[in-house]
Amino acid sequence: MTYQGLIHTYGHLLDLPIHSRTVSLLEGRTPLIKADNLSRQLGGGFELFIKYEGLNPTGSFKDRGMTAAVSEALGRGVTTVICASTGNTAASAAAYAARAGMKSIVLIPQGKVAAGKLAGAIAYGAQVIQIDGSFDDALTMVVEITNKHPICLVNSINPYRIEGQKTAAFEIVDELGSAPDWLCLPVGNAGNITSYWAGFKQYCGLKSAVLSSLLPKLLGVQAAGAAPLVLGHAVENPETVATAIRIGKPARGEQALQAAEESNGRIIAVTDDQILDMQKLLARLEGIWVEPASAAGLAGLAQEVASGKLKVEGKRVVAVCTGHGLKDPEIITKDMQKPIVVPPRLDALEEIILRN
Ligand code: F0G
Repeated sequence: MTYQGLIHTYGHLLDLPIHSRTVSLLEGRTPLIKADNLSRQLGGGFELFIKYEGLNPTGSFKDRGMTAAVSEALGRGVTTVICASTGNTAASAAAYAARAGMKSIVLIPQGKVAAGKLAGAIAYGAQVIQIDGSFDDALTMVVEITNKHPICLVNSINPYRIEGQKTAAFEIVDELGSAPDWLCLPVGNAGNITSYWAGFKQYCGLKSAVLSSLLPKLLGVQAAGAAPLVLGHAVENPETVATAIRIGKPARGEQALQAAEESNGRIIAVTDDQILDMQKLLARLEGIWVEPASAAGLAGLAQEVASGKLKVEGKRVVAVCTGHGLKDPEIITKDMQKPIVVPPRLDALEEIILRN
């Protein structure tokens, strides 16, 4: 049967009101790609899979939550949605709103949103407003405005976002036959780690009564310059090259910490250099290009494995790569040497490619 999207596939397991009217771009069903070269590079002896969420319709995992949130909103007669965003939520909200015939408004931190995300939000017709402040300031503003006006908030404070994003955990269990031993993923506003944990608990619970032995341990990874959950306090001026997770006061921070603890996992931080090195390694060893934030989960895994704090021998590990590399091309092109120019003659080409 042809694929009809996440609500069609898993709607019976999602807590969505009956008034919901499905708005879908056939999101989800993203590949779980075995990454043997990278596993070997990290020391080997374990199975590593990449859940490539950058292959969702707007290029990030946000589409899972957005199909749910916009479907609920449409069924309730909402005409305008709003979000604060580091970029991916903005593009996703704009696309789903467009499909639902709604207006979308997105608030982004000035100058800190990657080109592919901003372009997406504009292409899908959102009203884009830059805030002379951080993502956290923008989030405070959208919460305030939706308390005052009949506009629907589609940040992950919206419970239907969490419901939709649980489906990624369902897909992983369906594909592997059970949950992996470890799940590593980047943490920003902390909606995704909250969703995965809820999803694994629900789905594994359906399959067996002995739940705890079947659940994965969660390794949540923040950028060192934006690591409130590692530091134990809000960060006033978060800074990181991984702009998607440049967040100092995560809305679901408490739930993220609880999820990590319940799972016997943890939340750690990695530096920008570790993130960029991993982005490159993943692209060059596996042919998978992700945006910087999406490499954070794997960078955290590499750090924990190298220090011996995480024993992966014989284990199955899934790394969630949340957004496509095309979202943020400048991070690659800004420092690169311009490709060489040759005249359109075979001898000139031969000279270049056979030189060494
Ligand atoms: N990876 C990417 C590519 C993201 O865009 C985000 C969040 C995360 C990871 C972190 O997920 O917030 O659920 O912990 N991006 C949000 C946005 C904040 O506005 O697009 P989280």
